[in-house]
Amino acid sequence: MQAVPALNIPANSAIAQPEFLMGVATASYQIEGAADEDGRLQSIWDTYCDEPGRVLHGDTGDVACDHYHRWEADVDLIAGLGVDAYRLSIAWPRVMDEKGQPNPKGLTFYKNLLNRLNAKGIQTYVTLYHWDLPQHLQDKGGWANRETAYAFAEYADLVSRELAGKVTAWATLNEPWCSAYLGYAEGRHAPGITDLRQATQALHHLLLGHGLALAKLKANDPGAKRGIVCNTGTFKPLTDSAADQDAAHLAYVQQNYWVFDPLLLGNYPKDIFRLWPGTEPLVLAGDMEIISTPMDFFGINYYFNSVVESNGAGGYKEAPHSDKVERTQMGWEVYPQGLTEILVDFHQRYRMPPIYITENGMASDDSVVNGGVADAQRVRFLENHLMAVDTAIKAGVDVRGYFIWSLMDNFEWAYGYERRFGITHVDYATQVRTPKHSSLAVQAFLQQRKQRPAD
Ligand code: FCB
Repeated sequence: MQAVPALNIPANSAIAQPEFLMGVATASYQIEGAADEDGRLQSIWDTYCDEPGRVLHGDTGDVACDHYHRWEADVDLIAGLGVDAYRLSIAWPRVMDEKGQPNPKGLTFYKNLLNRLNAKGIQTYVTLYHWDLPQHLQDKGGWANRETAYAFAEYADLVSRELAGKVTAWATLNEPWCSAYLGYAEGRHAPGITDLRQATQALHHLLLGHGLALAKLKANDPGAKRGIVCNTGTFKPLTDSAADQDAAHLAYVQQNYWVFDPLLLGNYPKDIFRLWPGTEPLVLAGDMEIISTPMDFFGINYYFNSVVESNGAGGYKEAPHSDKVERTQMGWEVYPQGLTEILVDFHQRYRMPPIYITENGMASDDSVVNGGVADAQRVRFLENHLMAVDTAIKAGVDVRGYFIWSLMDNFEWAYGYERRFGITHVDYATQVRTPKHSSLAVQAFLQQRKQRPAD
């Protein structure tokens, strides 16, 4: 068996201090399975997976990691890692029926799960919406319909009343950019719509739902923190021509400021409508105040850098991939400095609440050999990104924690089960979980961190 590489994090870095929160993350549809059990309704991802050609190899979330039945052992797996926190999401279609009434069986699943995590001293970071919208709401237009924002607030109200006291931090939405842009503009995610105008409207309603939900969370569970989780990315111009530089700027605005500006400044960036003329959403009086409600924390997901060039029509397009950079199984460019860059940029542009890196990680084509999984690229990836966070902290950015995506291999949306993001390997035929070297390296790092005497 190959030796397990160590996660080299200097003892004097912010990351090595015990108060820096370390966690692992998952999401309901990606791990739970049990799609038809205990009164769970159909979600937009069930529908999308059933449409031929949408998901690689025709994979679905019907069984996934069977976490719905294996949650006790999975919590033990998390506890065994020695992490401080676990980020999970609640499946809306599992806990609320079509009339808005609670589904006790679905709620019991999450109560038991949270109780076990609490009993083991693991902090719980709970996302209300990680993309599994009930299909009956999609049938009425989904996020393109303003009513969905109010339905989301009702759902947040119900869940936070039921689970109050068990949650450390609530995040309303996971990556509203993906829900709006991949779901309504590119159609690469459920519900598979390709209409930019609907995408900007969907984002507006997602953000409105977020703001309305914050008020419910505050009323029902005042002791918990409240925030949101957004994806981010960096973009570099292919050449230093003015057109390519503007292309990179527009791509950056589209990826980051389109979502961050309304949340933190209370307005949409003008450049988004320079990029997409005529797609201004309908905004009603008072919406932007609701959307920019102050939060206790901001969750940031970061994965990769992209190189873009001008498309010759005032926009941008992805440049052909260079083979000179390191890439992951997703084809994503490994660029740890990007994490420092966005953190420093947001720190300068906004008054950010405390930040948690709520997702970071990479996919590789891992397999079990002689009982082990040698994922050395992931160990280096995690180490370099953790150190990029350390650099940002040294530059004055208030980053309080970091969650690895993901606890285990799972259903990677349109890429199905082929892309493996876990620090734990999952054999989907047997549901056997095998710690990869990255998981052993994280465990060893956390153990050392606990044992080191405080300075
Ligand atoms: C993010 C998603 C998460 C996972 C990672 C790889 O966009 O939030 O569910 O799929 O990408």
